[in-house]
Amino acid sequence: MLSGPRGLLFASLALTLVKADLDVYTDDALASGWQDWSWSTVASYSATDLKLGLSSISVKSEQYAALSLKSPSVLQGFAGLSFDIAGDQPDISLSISSTTDNTQSPSIPLSAFGTKITADKFTTLLLDFNNLPPTGAVLGNGTWDRIAWQAGFNGATYHLDNIKFVTSITVTPNVLSAEPLAANLVAVTTQGAVDTSKFQVTLNGKAVTVSSRSTFVPIDTPSRSITYLNLASPLAPGTLKITTVNGTFTHVLPSSQSGSINQASSYPINPRIYGVNFPTSASYIQHLGVTFSRWGGNAVTAYNPFGGFTNAGADWYFENRANENADDWLAWVKGAGSESFLTIPALDWVAKDASSYSYPKTIYPLQSAFDPYNPDAGSGYFPNGTTLSPPPDQKNAYTPWNSTLAKKWLSGLKNKPTVVTVDNEIEIASSTHQDMHPAPVSYDEELSRVLEYAAAAKSAIPGVEVAAPSSCSWWFYWRSAVGDSDTISHNKTDFVPWFLAEMKKRDTGAGKRLLDILDLHYYYQADTSANDAAAKALRLRATRSLWDPTYVDESWIATSTGNSQPNSSKVQLIPRIQSLIAQLYPGTKFTLSEWSSTNDGDITGGLVTVDSLGIFGKYKLDGATYWATPDEKGPVGLAYWLYRGYGTRFGSSSAQVTINSFNPDKLGVYAGTEAGKNLTLVVVNKDPSSPVALNLSGVPTGTYFLRHFGGQAGVAKWQTTTTITSSSYIVVPPYTAIFLQQQSSSPPV
Ligand SMILES: *[C@@H]1O[C@H](CO)[C@@H](O)[C@H](O)[C@H]1NC(C)=O
Ligand SMILES: *[C@@H]1O[C@H](CO)[C@@H](O)[C@H](O)[C@H]1NC(C)=O
Ligand SMILES: *[C@@H]1O[C@H](CO)[C@@H](O)[C@H](O)[C@H]1NC(C)=O
Ligand SMILES: *[C@@H]1O[C@H](CO)[C@@H](O)[C@H](O)[C@H]1NC(C)=O
Ligand SMILES: *[C@@H]1O[C@H](CO)[C@@H](O)[C@H](O)[C@H]1NC(C)=O
Ligand SMILES: *[C@@H]1O[C@H](CO)[C@@H](O)[C@H](O)[C@H]1NC(C)=O
Ligand SMILES: *[C@@H]1O[C@H](CO)[C@@H](O)[C@H](O)[C@H]1NC(C)=O
Ligand SMILES: *[C@@H]1O[C@H](CO)[C@@H](O)[C@H](O)[C@H]1NC(C)=O
Repeated sequence: MLSGPRGLLFASLALTLVKADLDVYTDDALASGWQDWSWSTVASYSATDLKLGLSSISVKSEQYAALSLKSPSVLQGFAGLSFDIAGDQPDISLSISSTTDNTQSPSIPLSAFGTKITADKFTTLLLDFNNLPPTGAVLGNGTWDRIAWQAGFNGATYHLDNIKFVTSITVTPNVLSAEPLAANLVAVTTQGAVDTSKFQVTLNGKAVTVSSRSTFVPIDTPSRSITYLNLASPLAPGTLKITTVNGTFTHVLPSSQSGSINQASSYPINPRIYGVNFPTSASYIQHLGVTFSRWGGNAVTAYNPFGGFTNAGADWYFENRANENADDWLAWVKGAGSESFLTIPALDWVAKDASSYSYPKTIYPLQSAFDPYNPDAGSGYFPNGTTLSPPPDQKNAYTPWNSTLAKKWLSGLKNKPTVVTVDNEIEIASSTHQDMHPAPVSYDEELSRVLEYAAAAKSAIPGVEVAAPSSCSWWFYWRSAVGDSDTISHNKTDFVPWFLAEMKKRDTGAGKRLLDILDLHYYYQADTSANDAAAKALRLRATRSLWDPTYVDESWIATSTGNSQPNSSKVQLIPRIQSLIAQLYPGTKFTLSEWSSTNDGDITGGLVTVDSLGIFGKYKLDGATYWATPDEKGPVGLAYWLYRGYGTRFGSSSAQVTINSFNPDKLGVYAGTEAGKNLTLVVVNKDPSSPVALNLSGVPTGTYFLRHFGGQAGVAKWQTTTTITSSSYIVVPPYTAIFLQQQSSSPPV
């Protein structure tokens, strides 16, 4: 053990060892010891068609292939990676990994650097290990020794030059934003060392005193910090100016929208609404406060619990692969404090091993595509897009499965799930699992599989809740893959109402409840793929389809004739399904085991998630699990953190909110309470450029814990404590979500 002067001497010696930058490539060849670990890629290290110095690397990668370079030693103590790149904005993502323990950095799309890449000349990019784009995450310490530039779906062609690891990156101190927030705060984000003590604030030309300041550095993204200026007088309508060392920030504060919160009028929120599919780790569950973890998706339909294999179905060339053991998964998920939602395979086959596949090129030479990683495994489609025929022999990739085996598996689990679903989207098995179930699934087949596997589950795990049918989309809530004829032959009744009525009948026959939860999947159908200003606004409006009886869906649903539901152009999903349940099968819960914001990487995806979680609580949904695994540091992960992160929780009951002239296209407001005390408030401002101000009665004055993300402050886990002396003017910046939690009870004002 080193102690006293010797230890100090040792430390200072270590500090004086100045490390040099490390060249990986400059001209003609990789630096000494570096190896080319690329796949399905042609790379020339002495290209001269475009170069800086003598030559460059020209790269041509096939679909999902990569230029990958392996270092002779572990790379430590570097601040970043610099490289020159030329290409027509090539579709590639950069990652750094360890061949020692197979850990990998986030995969960073070139577009996240925010610099346009052109084919005619090189552009220098610098990857800052302390500020990885787009999240600002830290690379962290690892046994890093490999870099990869991986192409996307269409492959990529580009040039690289001057690749080097750098020992230091100079961050220019800067004020990035300064925004009004809550009742009396200005939130200033900065990078580098910025002196915030001299900043001046004026409102309508009059100086406002800054009574105190506090600085916060977010846990996951320490490259930027936020300083909260506490104003001696509250924010108010007019022009707010914040003068800093790096310029003046001006905001026009609007007149307030009035409303009220009534904590006395409340009802419980089902905690299962804060769920996700496949959380990555116990710490992920705890950091985001995940309550409900689902083992689901297309691959689990063919999960063989006795061998630990599954088949990817149409998602990936109908290939088998090894899979995590469900029992182990149930154990760690429960250990982390989450309930589990386990899918039981309910078709007739499960994967027989970890390597077989259904459509070998040797048997079916003519196919639309083959796996870039396994050129013998085909897509299962002819080049013209029709399904291959004749169908393969199921025994090529599968082994038989039935409810006896399901019961044996569930009975033998050491760790029991709280909820099980009878398979996943099996109404479309004839496409997702066309290799083993080529026939379209009918009403009757779906019902009989639910009955059989529900009974097996209930006898194997006393008290388990059973959910079904986990239908994929609006169309299949009402029609089967057989088509209209199936609906017509079932008393002209749409599928979900028919299914509910049948289950009710079977319960009556059995003298007990066979199905506890009606589970569906719901993906907002409006096309927001352009992700431009109009698409973002549409994405933020689309949450109205969850509840609003006046909202005409802005998608194909508005004109769809594939059902006979009342007002079917207006989805109003939660009340609609609750009303069917009340009429046909009262007491059944309703969950959404798959749903998505439609864009995990965009700030609007995060705001949609905040709005959706608020709606789920307010409209009494019984559970929801996001598809899939949102990045903990990305906008969607932050929405979960806002409500639930690190043990700080939105209220367990939903309190009444009234906003005068409420416009749900622009705003979401949700209140939580604990037995009429201890208010929590979530507000999401959907406007991209204007702040919103609320005048809310029923918000007690006092100390509040405040969290927020979005707006100019950006995507980070920002938080502070603030005192609200009057709730008549609470500001939420544009494209921002805030969470307020009352810290001590005082009488309402
Ligand atoms: C990496 O290691 C250094 C030196 O041991 C330590 O100071 C630093 O906090 C570590 N960083 C992370 C992100 O763990
Ligand atoms: C911000 O102001 C500081 C102090 O004057 C200065 O050192 C820094 O360069 C400025 N940042 C930018 C990006 O101009
Ligand atoms: C698609 O291609 C296959 C194989 O060539 C052929 O048998 C089938 O008729 C084609 N289908 C259509 C709709 O063109
Ligand atoms: C299920 O399969 C097992 C093993 O092949 C068999 O013993 C059992 O009889 C089957 N059960 C049913 C209900 O078909
Ligand atoms: C058929 O549907 C009608 C309503 O459309 C309903 O009144 C009737 O009870 C149904 N019949 C059966 C056998 O379910
Ligand atoms: C259909 O919607 C209108 C309002 O948009 C409402 O008045 C009517 O009650 C709805 N009908 C049904 C059957 O839900
Ligand atoms: C806030 O609303 C109340 C009525 O609820 C009103 O009396 C008050 O004047 C409003 N305050 C402001 C600042 O608009
Ligand atoms: C409100 O909740 C916070 C966080 O759980 C807690 O610190 C505070 O004591 C609570 N206050 C009341 C009045 O329950």
